[in-house]
Amino acid sequence: MSHQLIKVYEEGQVGVVELNRPNVLNALNRQMVDEIVDQLEMYDRNPEIRVMMIKGNDKVFAAGADIDEMMEETPLSMEMANPFAVWDRMTLIKKPVIASVNGFCLGGAFELALHCDLIIAGEDAKFGFPEVKLGVMPGAGGTQLLTKAIGQRKALEWIWLGEPFKADEAQSLGIVNRVVAPELVKEESMRFAQSLANQAPISVRLIKEAVRAAEDLSLMDGMKLERKNFYLAFDSEDQKEGMKAFVEKRPPHFKGV
Ligand code: HXC
Repeated sequence: MSHQLIKVYEEGQVGVVELNRPNVLNALNRQMVDEIVDQLEMYDRNPEIRVMMIKGNDKVFAAGADIDEMMEETPLSMEMANPFAVWDRMTLIKKPVIASVNGFCLGGAFELALHCDLIIAGEDAKFGFPEVKLGVMPGAGGTQLLTKAIGQRKALEWIWLGEPFKADEAQSLGIVNRVVAPELVKEESMRFAQSLANQAPISVRLIKEAVRAAEDLSLMDGMKLERKNFYLAFDSEDQKEGMKAFVEKRPPHFKGV
């Protein structure tokens, strides 16, 4: 598939999606979101790929949704275009997705990062929801994802004020997994992705499903899902290999089957 607004490449078993509209600070228009999600779905189905990464360039992750594209929208035009259906598809991705963030990560771009499982950021990263300053509000899950992550009071402060937060504050609130020097973001993200790619892929995806479900299910329903996934792991060759390798005192070799 040919892409116009993203670059796509693989490093080992890691599939990378690089946002590529540098003239507008990678502002996300609909075509770009379509390309991102189409590519993630392709990687999700590709047995050679175990982990995915979404990144911007060295200066910016992305400055939010494309304001030029949104300016003339009406409630009815959006109802008919249904622009958020593609975002919903992101929640169905089974493999791990890491956001690798330098510079601004605002509005829809912050929502894109929050849809990812992990965020690795540079000290130069700035996260925020400036929509309030445009007379609107987050629309691709920001109010829900941020509130589930940090609670109502902090989320309201963050979204009401619309000011960007630095990476270290985002980390202290549990939004960001690791903060490193700006020039090390790609390297650290790739290191993290590669170590995740070495884990048993079926375990990794079953863990993702169970942990993600914890936010929405009751404790008992969550435990039931966990138990089913635990049982399912025992249907994999990797379970046999992992336990055999332990007994034989050697590293496991996981095949993802
Ligand atoms: C369209 C954008 C853009 C955006 C920047 N540009 N952000 N174009 N949509 N979100 C364009 C500028 O118009 C400019 O184009 C070029 O990128 C460089 O931007 P500057 O503003 O000149 O850069 P700088 O002075 O460094 O300021 C950086 C910035 C600022 C602070 C990030 O660009 C900014 O505030 N951008 C908007 C951020 C924002 O409000 N995001 C939320 C969008 S709403 P020209 O042609 O002049 O060079 C949203 C809703 C999500 O995300 C809803 C669900 C999807």
